[in-house]
Amino acid sequence: MNKIAILTGGGDAPGLNAVIRAAVKTAVQEYDCEVLGIRDGFEGLLDEGGVFPLTLEAVRGILPKGGTILGAANRGNPFARRVIRDGKEVIEDASADVITCIEALELDALIVVGGDGTLRIARDLYAHGVPVIGVPKTIDNDINGTEVTFGFDTAINMATEAIDRLHTTAEAHHRVMVLELMGRDAGFIALHAGVAGGADVILIPEIPFNFDAVCRKIHRRIAGGRPFSILAVAEGARPVGGQQVFRRAGDETFVARLGGIGQVVGMFIEKTCGVETRVTVLGHLQRGGSPTPFDRWLATRYGAAAVRAVAKGKSGCMVALRESKVIDIPLDEALAVPKRVDVTGDGVLTARNLGIAFGDEPA
Ligand code: F6P
Repeated sequence: MNKIAILTGGGDAPGLNAVIRAAVKTAVQEYDCEVLGIRDGFEGLLDEGGVFPLTLEAVRGILPKGGTILGAANRGNPFARRVIRDGKEVIEDASADVITCIEALELDALIVVGGDGTLRIARDLYAHGVPVIGVPKTIDNDINGTEVTFGFDTAINMATEAIDRLHTTAEAHHRVMVLELMGRDAGFIALHAGVAGGADVILIPEIPFNFDAVCRKIHRRIAGGRPFSILAVAEGARPVGGQQVFRRAGDETFVARLGGIGQVVGMFIEKTCGVETRVTVLGHLQRGGSPTPFDRWLATRYGAAAVRAVAKGKSGCMVALRESKVIDIPLDEALAVPKRVDVTGDGVLTARNLGIAFGDEPA
């Protein structure tokens, strides 16, 4: 193993720098291998100055830092790249240029750290002969084949703290407090933070809800002498027979942006249930800041394991956590189906045992 490169794609997540640091330290110290950094996801392979040496010096002190020293781009798909031609914006397939650039670099492997979108690009490049190793990153925890992605733990810590803080105002003012949380089409953040924070209602995409069932739960609490309620609402939640709420539609290069369901639920509760309600959207606070010790630990293990996988001559795979061990699995397996909350699993069951409503309870 002589030379590897590393890039971070998609949205940032706490722990990216820990992966980069671990990969560089392992490659340089254990294998005497040169490491290149690629700026702003796959874009760096097409931009002048986008590829640069990643030395031990460059990764010193980055372990506790959020974001990524490499930059990230969640619109940088080389198979569908947005460019300006004759003053007009067009979508072009620039994958051949990216592959040519990677070949010229004579890499043993490209380590791609990203969520499902970025890992799909890695898988497609692998199909064109590019040696790749994936590292699963996302606060949403929606990548299959791994028990957990790094970034998720930091996000649920932040979300749980937000619920704790909302509790004080809810209790003092006898209000309903709605907290909208990220997660795209997966409800892991809302479920985990909702249980950890003691929410009364958790709405997730995997369990379409009835507005009336939510109101019944709030009224039952009021009747039982608890005149306040906390709702943890995943951004991808939707009512039975209804649609998800989007802030911006998607296209060939942009993923659609969810957001707004918290406001919809809050307005319904205030108008129809007649209970004073406030809505908070936690947004990117879930993604920013220093990673938790768990995310640093996991990201460091993923980064080192990715380099060990290259040294073993592996390619087209993704490092993953299974039964507390870091292993590697084929990228195809990881991307075959997205991971979603198991609605019959012990997480949801535990929440129900505790009396938390999901909005699907019969009258
Ligand atoms: O996938 C991570 C995530 O934070 C989602 O939870 C959220 O829907 C999305 O990214 C937000 O993306 P952006 O930063 O482009 O608004």
